[in-house]
Amino acid sequence: MNFVSIVSGTSTDGLTVADIQLDGYNMNTKFKICSGKTFPFSKKLRSRLLGASEGTVLTAEGMSRLNWDLGNEIVRAVALLNIEYDVISFSGHTIYHGPSLGRNDFGTLQIGEISLLVASSGKTAVSDYRTTDMSHGGLGAPLIALSDYIIFGNSDIMTLNIGGIANMTYLGKEGTIAFDTGPGNMLIDQAMNHFFGLSMDKDGRVARTGDIDDKFLTYLMKDAYLKRPLPKNSGREYYGSLCLTNLFKKFPKLKKEDFIRTLTRFTAASIYDQAKRFLPALPSELVVGGGGSRNKVLMSDLKTLFEGRVETFKDKGINDEFREALGFAILANQTIHHAAGRIVDPKIMSGPVLGKITPGNNFKELFRLIN
Ligand SMILES: Nc1ncnc2c1ncn2[C@@H]1O[C@H](COP(=O)(O)OP(=O)(O)O)[C@@H](O)[C@H]1O
Ligand SMILES: [Mg+2]
Repeated sequence: MNFVSIVSGTSTDGLTVADIQLDGYNMNTKFKICSGKTFPFSKKLRSRLLGASEGTVLTAEGMSRLNWDLGNEIVRAVALLNIEYDVISFSGHTIYHGPSLGRNDFGTLQIGEISLLVASSGKTAVSDYRTTDMSHGGLGAPLIALSDYIIFGNSDIMTLNIGGIANMTYLGKEGTIAFDTGPGNMLIDQAMNHFFGLSMDKDGRVARTGDIDDKFLTYLMKDAYLKRPLPKNSGREYYGSLCLTNLFKKFPKLKKEDFIRTLTRFTAASIYDQAKRFLPALPSELVVGGGGSRNKVLMSDLKTLFEGRVETFKDKGINDEFREALGFAILANQTIHHAAGRIVDPKIMSGPVLGKITPGNNFKELFRLIN
């Protein structure tokens, strides 16, 4: 069966759309990433989305328009990829996530009206996994653990996704442990925007010219999130503009390049700290994906800290740009098979079924195919 999987991550860089073929489900899932592309947001839409998730006060009308505009943007992006598919998977764009600040009873809000794509394509969609995961007592993020388990099994590796936020999945004999380690590219991106008016430190070029400031790094490592017990996750609510404003105020004299270099080391060091602190043992191998895996200084810092055992999803034959899209396609596939989206007991693959289904014209045919 063919899936179009759309991901709009916390870095708010754009829509990653991938065409993914899946057969079977649970541990018998076979996958192939056929094609895909990331469609960057226009400056305007990006700033509206960032504003909404940074707490800009929006009227109900403003929020409704943003939800609708993002839905139309999805329709445009998917049309440009020009592919055939049976099922749509959309994780939703996170505007607010209560558990990031420990407010689990505040819920979560994902936007991007997927019924627009259902209406124009006639295909059935599965979406809003985070909300349903929270309804079932989960934290709504990270949700990639199941697909990592399906892809790698209990292989004593740790996968790491460096998006806006960084999250890991440890696949050990003791079981699977998944949580957000802290910042991914979010702090670096915001500082790059502040100092240079750029959206990212491409390939780590600026970090390469700076030095690590020990005082700043020591201060960063005192971050309260690192001490928070598991299960936990984080987001823009915590590492957004307020966090950066405080850092600029606290270290006003630091050279721009040193600021970026130190944030880059902190990003790697926080990942290492969390692995040491919360995993039963350091993994034999780290497999890294997400946009941050293209930051050469960040990758080199990870190699130093984890003593070399660092690979990318690319090394494992998986295009890392589409690794999250693959994860969410696997979630949609689990849902249409009425199988667990979050594994509570791996022996029997039990757990809550996640996502909301928006039936398209192919709804009946789809379920005939499955049964
Ligand atoms: N060549 C690169 N060099 C450094 N950083 C990069 C590069 N390409 C992407 N990134 C970073 O990755 C981020 C996007 O990663 P992504 O995995 O899409 O995250 P998310 O899922 O949160 O959107 C960008 O904001 C940027 O910070
Ligand atoms: Mg992205």
